[in-house]
Amino acid sequence: MANELFNSFMTGPDENGRFGDFGGRFVSETLMPLILELQEEYEKAKTDDSFWAEMEDLWTHYVGRPSPLYFAERLTEHLGGAKVYMKRDELNHTGAHKINNVLGQIILARRMGKKRIIAETGAGQHGVATATVCAKFGLQCVVYMGAHDVERQAPNVFRMRLLGAEVIPVTSGRGTLKDAMNDALRDWVTNVRDTFYCIGTVAGPHPYPAMVRDFQSIIGKEVREQMNAAEGRLPDTVIAAIGGGSNAMGLFFPFLDDKDVNIIGVEAGGKGVNAKMEHCASLTGGRPGVLHGNRTYLLQDDDGQILEGFSISAGLDYPGIGPEHAWLHEIGRAKYVAITDVEALEAFQLSCKLEGIIPALEPSHALAHVMKIAPELPRDHIICMNMCGRGDKDIFTVAKALGFEMGEFG
Ligand SMILES: Cc1ncc(COP(=O)(O)O)c(C=O)c1O
Repeated sequence: MANELFNSFMTGPDENGRFGDFGGRFVSETLMPLILELQEEYEKAKTDDSFWAEMEDLWTHYVGRPSPLYFAERLTEHLGGAKVYMKRDELNHTGAHKINNVLGQIILARRMGKKRIIAETGAGQHGVATATVCAKFGLQCVVYMGAHDVERQAPNVFRMRLLGAEVIPVTSGRGTLKDAMNDALRDWVTNVRDTFYCIGTVAGPHPYPAMVRDFQSIIGKEVREQMNAAEGRLPDTVIAAIGGGSNAMGLFFPFLDDKDVNIIGVEAGGKGVNAKMEHCASLTGGRPGVLHGNRTYLLQDDDGQILEGFSISAGLDYPGIGPEHAWLHEIGRAKYVAITDVEALEAFQLSCKLEGIIPALEPSHALAHVMKIAPELPRDHIICMNMCGRGDKDIFTVAKALGFEMGEFG
Protein backbone atom coordinates (compact mmCIF):
# COMPACT_ATOMS: atom_id res chain seq x y z
CA MET A 1 0.00 0.00 0.00
CA ALA A 2 1.18 3.51 -0.74
CA ASN A 3 0.84 4.57 2.88
CA GLU A 4 3.81 2.38 3.91
CA LEU A 5 5.88 5.40 2.93
CA PHE A 6 4.87 7.28 6.01
CA ASN A 7 6.99 5.02 8.22
CA SER A 8 10.03 7.01 7.16
CA PHE A 9 11.56 9.08 9.98
CA MET A 10 11.94 12.16 7.82
CA THR A 11 8.24 12.47 7.28
CA GLY A 12 7.74 15.96 8.82
CA PRO A 13 6.03 18.30 9.40
CA ASP A 14 5.26 18.67 13.12
CA GLU A 15 1.66 19.00 14.34
CA ASN A 16 1.63 22.71 13.44
CA GLY A 17 2.72 22.02 9.90
CA ARG A 18 6.31 23.18 10.45
CA PHE A 19 9.32 21.82 8.63
CA GLY A 20 11.96 23.34 10.91
CA ASP A 21 11.37 27.11 10.67
CA PHE A 22 9.26 26.78 7.52
CA GLY A 23 5.66 25.97 6.62
CA GLY A 24 2.87 26.56 9.13
CA ARG A 25 -0.64 27.90 8.75
CA PHE A 26 -0.71 31.66 8.21
CA VAL A 27 -4.38 32.09 7.30
CA SER A 28 -7.30 34.33 8.16
CA GLU A 29 -9.80 33.38 10.89
CA THR A 30 -12.42 32.56 8.25
CA LEU A 31 -10.17 29.98 6.63
CA MET A 32 -8.94 28.34 9.81
CA PRO A 33 -11.95 26.02 10.37
CA LEU A 34 -11.71 24.84 6.76
CA ILE A 35 -8.03 24.13 7.01
CA LEU A 36 -8.56 22.18 10.23
CA GLU A 37 -11.43 20.21 8.70
CA LEU A 38 -9.26 19.34 5.70
CA GLN A 39 -6.40 18.27 7.94
CA GLU A 40 -8.68 16.02 9.97
CA GLU A 41 -10.12 14.41 6.83
CA TYR A 42 -6.67 13.90 5.36
CA GLU A 43 -5.35 12.34 8.57
CA LYS A 44 -8.24 9.86 8.43
CA ALA A 45 -7.73 9.10 4.73
CA LYS A 46 -3.98 8.61 5.12
CA THR A 47 -4.42 5.54 7.24
CA ASP A 48 -7.51 4.26 5.44
CA ASP A 49 -6.70 1.40 3.09
CA SER A 50 -9.89 1.98 1.09
CA PHE A 51 -8.69 5.53 0.26
CA TRP A 52 -5.37 4.23 -1.08
CA ALA A 53 -7.08 1.36 -2.89
CA GLU A 54 -9.24 3.91 -4.77
CA MET A 55 -6.13 5.98 -5.56
CA GLU A 56 -4.19 2.98 -6.81
CA ASP A 57 -7.08 1.82 -8.97
CA LEU A 58 -7.33 5.26 -10.63
CA TRP A 59 -3.55 5.66 -10.89
CA THR A 60 -3.45 2.36 -12.77
CA HIS A 61 -6.53 2.53 -14.97
CA TYR A 62 -7.08 6.26 -15.44
CA VAL A 63 -3.60 7.84 -15.21
CA GLY A 64 -1.59 4.93 -16.62
CA ARG A 65 0.81 4.36 -13.72
CA PRO A 66 3.42 3.17 -13.17
CA SER A 67 5.09 5.56 -15.58
CA PRO A 68 8.16 3.96 -17.22
CA LEU A 69 11.73 4.46 -16.07
CA TYR A 70 13.64 5.01 -19.30
CA PHE A 71 17.38 4.70 -19.92
CA ALA A 72 18.31 7.62 -22.19
CA GLU A 73 21.02 5.79 -24.09
CA ARG A 74 21.86 8.31 -26.82
CA LEU A 75 21.84 11.21 -24.38
CA THR A 76 24.13 9.23 -22.06
CA GLU A 77 26.49 8.50 -24.97
CA HIS A 78 26.42 12.13 -26.04
CA LEU A 79 27.24 13.44 -22.56
CA GLY A 80 29.97 10.83 -22.12
CA GLY A 81 29.73 10.37 -18.35
CA ALA A 82 27.03 9.27 -15.91
CA LYS A 83 24.16 7.01 -16.98
CA VAL A 84 21.02 9.09 -17.44
CA TYR A 85 17.55 7.73 -16.69
CA MET A 86 14.29 9.61 -17.18
CA LYS A 87 11.22 8.99 -15.07
CA ARG A 88 8.52 9.34 -17.71
CA ASP A 89 5.79 11.15 -15.81
CA GLU A 90 5.00 13.11 -18.97
CA LEU A 91 3.28 9.94 -20.20
CA ASN A 92 0.56 10.25 -17.56
CA HIS A 93 -2.97 11.04 -18.71
CA THR A 94 -3.09 14.86 -19.24
CA GLY A 95 0.66 15.01 -19.84
CA ALA A 96 2.27 15.79 -16.50
CA HIS A 97 2.68 14.72 -12.89
CA LYS A 98 -0.07 17.08 -11.70
CA ILE A 99 -2.82 14.48 -11.97
CA ASN A 100 -1.16 12.26 -9.30
CA ASN A 101 -2.02 14.86 -6.69
CA VAL A 102 -5.34 16.03 -8.15
CA LEU A 103 -6.80 12.53 -7.85
CA GLY A 104 -5.92 12.42 -4.15
CA GLN A 105 -7.46 15.81 -3.42
CA ILE A 106 -10.61 15.14 -5.40
CA ILE A 107 -11.19 11.78 -3.77
CA LEU A 108 -10.86 13.66 -0.47
CA ALA A 109 -13.26 16.40 -1.64
CA ARG A 110 -15.83 13.76 -2.54
CA ARG A 111 -15.46 12.18 0.89
CA MET A 112 -16.07 15.62 2.41
CA GLY A 113 -19.21 16.10 0.28
CA LYS A 114 -17.82 19.12 -1.63
CA LYS A 115 -19.36 19.67 -5.07
CA ARG A 116 -17.45 22.75 -6.28
CA ILE A 117 -13.71 22.51 -6.92
CA ILE A 118 -11.48 25.54 -7.40
CA ALA A 119 -7.83 25.52 -8.48
CA GLU A 120 -5.05 27.89 -9.49
CA THR A 121 -2.83 27.13 -12.44
CA GLY A 122 0.34 28.49 -14.01
CA ALA A 123 1.36 26.40 -17.02
CA GLY A 124 -2.18 25.08 -17.11
CA GLN A 125 -1.22 21.48 -16.37
CA HIS A 126 -2.70 21.53 -12.87
CA GLY A 127 -5.80 23.26 -14.24
CA VAL A 128 -6.16 20.64 -16.98
CA ALA A 129 -5.68 17.79 -14.49
CA THR A 130 -8.27 19.32 -12.14
CA ALA A 131 -10.76 19.94 -14.98
CA THR A 132 -10.22 16.36 -16.15
CA VAL A 133 -10.88 14.71 -12.81
CA CYS A 134 -13.86 17.03 -12.16
CA ALA A 135 -15.33 15.98 -15.51
CA LYS A 136 -14.83 12.35 -14.59
CA PHE A 137 -16.71 12.78 -11.30
CA GLY A 138 -19.29 15.37 -12.48
CA LEU A 139 -18.04 18.17 -10.23
CA GLN A 140 -18.17 21.91 -10.93
CA CYS A 141 -14.68 23.25 -11.69
CA VAL A 142 -13.39 26.83 -11.58
CA VAL A 143 -9.76 27.53 -12.48
CA TYR A 144 -7.94 30.78 -11.72
CA MET A 145 -5.15 31.53 -14.18
CA GLY A 146 -2.99 34.64 -14.54
CA ALA A 147 -3.92 36.62 -17.66
CA HIS A 148 -0.31 36.46 -18.87
CA ASP A 149 -0.34 32.65 -18.53
CA VAL A 150 -3.72 32.45 -20.31
CA GLU A 151 -1.96 34.01 -23.27
CA ARG A 152 1.22 31.90 -23.29
CA GLN A 153 -0.49 28.57 -22.48
CA ALA A 154 -3.46 28.94 -24.86
CA PRO A 155 -3.73 25.20 -25.75
CA ASN A 156 -4.25 24.34 -22.09
CA VAL A 157 -6.89 27.05 -21.66
CA PHE A 158 -8.88 25.55 -24.52
CA ARG A 159 -8.41 22.06 -23.06
CA MET A 160 -9.82 23.16 -19.69
CA ARG A 161 -12.82 24.77 -21.39
CA LEU A 162 -13.45 21.61 -23.44
CA LEU A 163 -13.43 19.66 -20.20
CA GLY A 164 -16.19 21.90 -18.85
CA ALA A 165 -14.17 24.11 -16.51
CA GLU A 166 -14.66 27.83 -16.12
CA VAL A 167 -11.28 29.54 -16.57
CA ILE A 168 -11.04 32.94 -14.86
CA PRO A 169 -8.15 35.12 -16.11
CA VAL A 170 -6.53 37.03 -13.24
CA THR A 171 -5.29 40.49 -14.17
CA SER A 172 -3.86 41.64 -10.82
CA GLY A 173 -0.06 41.78 -10.36
CA ARG A 174 1.74 40.53 -13.44
CA GLY A 175 -0.99 38.01 -14.16
CA THR A 176 0.92 34.86 -13.25
CA LEU A 177 0.65 31.97 -10.78
CA LYS A 178 1.07 34.00 -7.57
CA ASP A 179 -1.86 36.22 -8.54
CA ALA A 180 -4.00 33.22 -9.53
CA MET A 181 -3.36 31.65 -6.12
CA ASN A 182 -4.33 34.90 -4.34
CA ASP A 183 -7.67 34.95 -6.16
CA ALA A 184 -8.32 31.26 -5.55
CA LEU A 185 -7.75 31.80 -1.81
CA ARG A 186 -10.19 34.76 -1.93
CA ASP A 187 -12.80 32.57 -3.64
CA TRP A 188 -12.35 29.88 -0.98
CA VAL A 189 -12.94 32.34 1.88
CA THR A 190 -16.11 33.58 0.13
CA ASN A 191 -17.53 30.14 -0.70
CA VAL A 192 -16.48 28.17 2.33
CA ARG A 193 -19.46 25.83 2.57
CA ASP A 194 -19.47 23.90 -0.71
CA THR A 195 -15.99 24.56 -2.13
CA PHE A 196 -12.78 22.51 -2.02
CA TYR A 197 -9.54 24.26 -2.96
CA CYS A 198 -7.34 21.84 -4.92
CA ILE A 199 -3.79 23.29 -4.69
CA GLY A 200 -1.38 22.22 -7.41
CA THR A 201 1.92 22.23 -5.61
CA VAL A 202 3.58 21.69 -2.21
CA ALA A 203 2.71 25.24 -1.12
CA GLY A 204 -0.18 26.86 0.79
CA PRO A 205 -1.04 26.43 4.46
CA HIS A 206 -0.64 23.14 6.32
CA PRO A 207 -1.74 20.41 5.48
CA TYR A 208 -1.30 21.16 1.75
CA PRO A 209 2.52 20.92 1.46
CA ALA A 210 2.63 17.53 3.20
CA MET A 211 -0.54 16.23 1.57
CA VAL A 212 0.51 17.14 -1.99
CA ARG A 213 3.95 15.64 -1.33
CA ASP A 214 2.36 12.42 -0.10
CA PHE A 215 0.25 12.13 -3.27
CA GLN A 216 3.22 12.88 -5.51
CA SER A 217 5.52 10.44 -3.66
CA ILE A 218 4.29 7.70 -5.95
CA ILE A 219 6.95 9.05 -8.38
CA GLY A 220 9.93 8.34 -6.13
CA LYS A 221 8.42 5.15 -4.80
CA GLU A 222 8.17 3.77 -8.35
CA VAL A 223 11.70 4.96 -9.18
CA ARG A 224 13.09 3.00 -6.21
CA GLU A 225 11.41 -0.20 -7.41
CA GLN A 226 12.17 0.35 -11.10
CA MET A 227 15.81 1.29 -10.52
CA ASN A 228 16.30 -1.77 -8.32
CA ALA A 229 14.85 -3.90 -11.13
CA ALA A 230 16.98 -2.22 -13.84
CA GLU A 231 20.29 -1.73 -12.03
CA GLY A 232 19.98 -3.74 -8.83
CA ARG A 233 20.49 -0.61 -6.74
CA LEU A 234 19.28 2.92 -6.06
CA PRO A 235 20.31 5.89 -8.23
CA ASP A 236 23.28 7.98 -7.10
CA THR A 237 21.59 11.27 -7.95
CA VAL A 238 17.97 12.33 -8.38
CA ILE A 239 17.14 15.63 -10.09
CA ALA A 240 13.90 17.52 -10.65
CA ALA A 241 12.72 20.98 -11.67
CA ILE A 242 11.01 23.22 -9.13
CA GLY A 243 8.15 25.64 -9.54
CA GLY A 244 6.43 25.25 -6.18
CA GLY A 245 8.22 21.94 -5.87
CA SER A 246 5.64 19.13 -6.09
CA ASN A 247 7.18 16.87 -8.73
CA ALA A 248 10.53 17.34 -7.01
CA MET A 249 9.18 16.50 -3.53
CA GLY A 250 7.41 13.50 -5.08
CA LEU A 251 10.69 12.21 -6.46
CA PHE A 252 12.85 13.20 -3.48
CA PHE A 253 10.70 12.18 -0.52
CA PRO A 254 11.15 8.38 -0.75
CA PHE A 255 14.95 8.93 -0.93
CA LEU A 256 15.35 11.34 2.00
CA ASP A 257 16.53 8.61 4.34
CA ASP A 258 19.02 7.20 1.81
CA LYS A 259 21.98 9.38 2.69
CA ASP A 260 24.05 8.14 -0.26
CA VAL A 261 21.52 9.45 -2.78
CA ASN A 262 22.31 13.03 -3.89
CA ILE A 263 19.23 15.17 -4.23
CA ILE A 264 19.22 18.19 -6.55
CA GLY A 265 16.37 20.65 -7.13
CA VAL A 266 16.56 22.92 -10.16
CA GLU A 267 15.01 26.36 -9.98
CA ALA A 268 14.26 28.70 -12.88
CA GLY A 269 17.23 31.01 -13.39
CA GLY A 270 15.39 33.04 -16.08
CA LYS A 271 17.76 35.60 -17.51
CA GLY A 272 20.30 34.80 -14.75
CA VAL A 273 20.14 35.07 -10.95
CA ASN A 274 20.74 38.81 -10.69
CA ALA A 275 19.79 41.76 -8.50
CA LYS A 276 16.98 42.70 -10.89
CA MET A 277 15.23 39.43 -9.97
CA GLU A 278 14.75 38.38 -13.60
CA HIS A 279 14.44 34.80 -12.40
CA CYS A 280 12.29 32.59 -10.17
CA ALA A 281 15.03 31.01 -8.07
CA SER A 282 13.53 31.56 -4.60
CA LEU A 283 16.12 29.50 -2.72
CA THR A 284 19.10 30.58 -4.76
CA GLY A 285 18.15 34.28 -4.88
CA GLY A 286 15.42 34.93 -2.26
CA ARG A 287 15.01 35.07 1.52
CA PRO A 288 12.44 33.80 4.06
CA GLY A 289 9.02 35.43 4.38
CA VAL A 290 5.32 34.52 4.41
CA LEU A 291 3.19 33.95 1.31
CA HIS A 292 0.04 31.93 0.58
CA GLY A 293 -0.27 30.69 4.14
CA ASN A 294 3.24 29.40 4.81
CA ARG A 295 6.73 30.62 5.69
CA THR A 296 9.32 29.86 3.08
CA TYR A 297 11.96 31.39 0.81
CA LEU A 298 10.51 34.11 -1.41
CA LEU A 299 11.56 36.66 -3.97
CA GLN A 300 10.90 39.97 -2.20
CA ASP A 301 12.08 43.56 -2.03
CA ASP A 302 13.57 45.31 1.02
CA ASP A 303 10.06 46.04 2.35
CA GLY A 304 8.99 42.40 2.07
CA GLN A 305 6.81 43.03 -1.00
CA ILE A 306 6.69 39.94 -3.20
CA LEU A 307 8.45 40.35 -6.52
CA GLU A 308 7.11 38.78 -9.69
CA GLY A 309 10.17 36.93 -10.89
CA PHE A 310 10.68 35.75 -14.43
CA SER A 311 11.03 32.49 -16.34
CA ILE A 312 10.36 31.33 -19.87
CA SER A 313 8.51 28.45 -18.24
CA ALA A 314 5.01 29.26 -16.97
CA GLY A 315 5.10 26.34 -14.52
CA LEU A 316 8.27 27.54 -12.80
CA ASP A 317 7.14 31.15 -12.61
CA TYR A 318 6.35 31.20 -8.87
CA PRO A 319 8.17 33.58 -6.49
CA GLY A 320 8.12 31.04 -3.62
CA ILE A 321 8.98 27.41 -3.04
CA GLY A 322 7.39 24.67 -0.95
CA PRO A 323 8.43 24.95 2.73
CA GLU A 324 9.83 21.42 2.85
CA HIS A 325 12.36 22.39 0.17
CA ALA A 326 13.33 25.45 2.23
CA TRP A 327 13.96 23.11 5.15
CA LEU A 328 15.89 20.53 3.10
CA HIS A 329 18.00 23.41 1.80
CA GLU A 330 18.73 24.70 5.31
CA ILE A 331 19.65 21.31 6.75
CA GLY A 332 21.74 20.56 3.66
CA ARG A 333 19.92 17.36 2.69
CA ALA A 334 19.19 18.64 -0.81
CA LYS A 335 21.11 20.97 -3.07
CA TYR A 336 19.38 23.67 -5.13
CA VAL A 337 20.73 25.19 -8.32
CA ALA A 338 19.41 27.55 -11.00
CA ILE A 339 19.23 27.02 -14.76
CA THR A 340 18.67 29.89 -17.21
CA ASP A 341 16.10 30.09 -20.00
CA VAL A 342 18.85 29.73 -22.59
CA GLU A 343 20.22 26.57 -20.96
CA ALA A 344 16.71 25.08 -20.67
CA LEU A 345 16.02 25.78 -24.35
CA GLU A 346 19.21 23.98 -25.29
CA ALA A 347 18.21 20.94 -23.21
CA PHE A 348 14.71 21.02 -24.74
CA GLN A 349 16.20 20.71 -28.23
CA LEU A 350 18.70 18.05 -27.26
CA SER A 351 15.99 15.83 -25.79
CA CYS A 352 13.96 16.19 -29.01
CA LYS A 353 16.91 15.34 -31.25
CA LEU A 354 18.60 12.57 -29.27
CA GLU A 355 15.72 10.84 -27.54
CA GLY A 356 12.62 11.68 -29.59
CA ILE A 357 11.05 13.14 -26.48
CA ILE A 358 9.62 16.68 -26.62
CA PRO A 359 9.85 17.77 -23.01
CA ALA A 360 7.92 20.54 -21.28
CA LEU A 361 10.03 23.61 -20.52
CA GLU A 362 9.87 22.79 -16.80
CA PRO A 363 11.72 19.43 -16.91
CA SER A 364 14.01 20.93 -19.57
CA HIS A 365 15.51 22.86 -16.65
CA ALA A 366 16.25 19.60 -14.80
CA LEU A 367 17.70 18.11 -17.97
CA ALA A 368 19.92 21.15 -18.49
CA HIS A 369 21.48 20.51 -15.09
CA VAL A 370 21.96 16.85 -15.99
CA MET A 371 23.82 18.07 -19.10
CA LYS A 372 26.10 20.14 -16.86
CA ILE A 373 27.03 17.45 -14.36
CA ALA A 374 26.83 14.14 -16.24
CA PRO A 375 30.01 14.64 -18.34
CA GLU A 376 32.07 15.13 -15.15
CA LEU A 377 30.75 12.00 -13.43
CA PRO A 378 32.01 8.40 -13.84
CA ARG A 379 30.19 6.02 -16.17
CA ASP A 380 28.88 3.93 -13.28
CA HIS A 381 27.19 6.93 -11.67
CA ILE A 382 23.41 6.75 -12.13
CA ILE A 383 21.31 9.89 -12.49
CA CYS A 384 17.53 9.85 -12.55
CA MET A 385 15.76 13.03 -13.67
CA ASN A 386 12.03 13.53 -13.57
CA MET A 387 10.55 14.15 -17.01
CA CYS A 388 7.51 15.65 -15.33
CA GLY A 389 5.69 17.03 -18.37
CA ARG A 390 5.43 16.87 -22.14
CA GLY A 391 6.17 19.81 -24.38
CA ASP A 392 3.04 20.12 -26.52
CA LYS A 393 1.88 23.12 -24.49
CA ASP A 394 5.23 24.89 -24.98
CA ILE A 395 5.87 24.63 -28.69
CA PHE A 396 4.60 28.17 -29.40
CA THR A 397 6.81 29.65 -26.68
CA VAL A 398 9.82 27.68 -27.90
CA ALA A 399 9.18 28.65 -31.53
CA LYS A 400 9.09 32.32 -30.53
CA ALA A 401 12.22 32.01 -28.40
CA LEU A 402 14.07 30.36 -31.29
CA GLY A 403 12.94 33.11 -33.65
CA PHE A 404 10.34 31.22 -35.72
CA GLU A 405 6.90 32.40 -36.79
CA MET A 406 4.45 29.48 -36.62
CA GLY A 407 3.30 30.25 -40.23
CA GLU A 408 6.82 29.52 -41.47
CA PHE A 409 6.58 25.78 -40.95
CA GLY A 410 4.25 24.87 -43.83
C1 LIG B 1 5.14 20.04 -16.49
C2 LIG B 1 5.33 20.81 -15.24
N1 LIG B 1 6.43 20.58 -14.50
C3 LIG B 1 6.67 21.24 -13.35
C4 LIG B 1 5.79 22.21 -12.90
C5 LIG B 1 6.13 22.92 -11.64
O1 LIG B 1 5.34 22.53 -10.56
P1 LIG B 1 5.95 21.72 -9.36
O2 LIG B 1 7.20 22.40 -8.96
O3 LIG B 1 4.89 21.80 -8.33
O4 LIG B 1 6.19 20.32 -9.81
C6 LIG B 1 4.62 22.49 -13.62
C7 LIG B 1 3.68 23.47 -13.17
O5 LIG B 1 2.73 23.85 -13.80
C8 LIG B 1 4.40 21.77 -14.83
O6 LIG B 1 3.32 21.98 -15.58
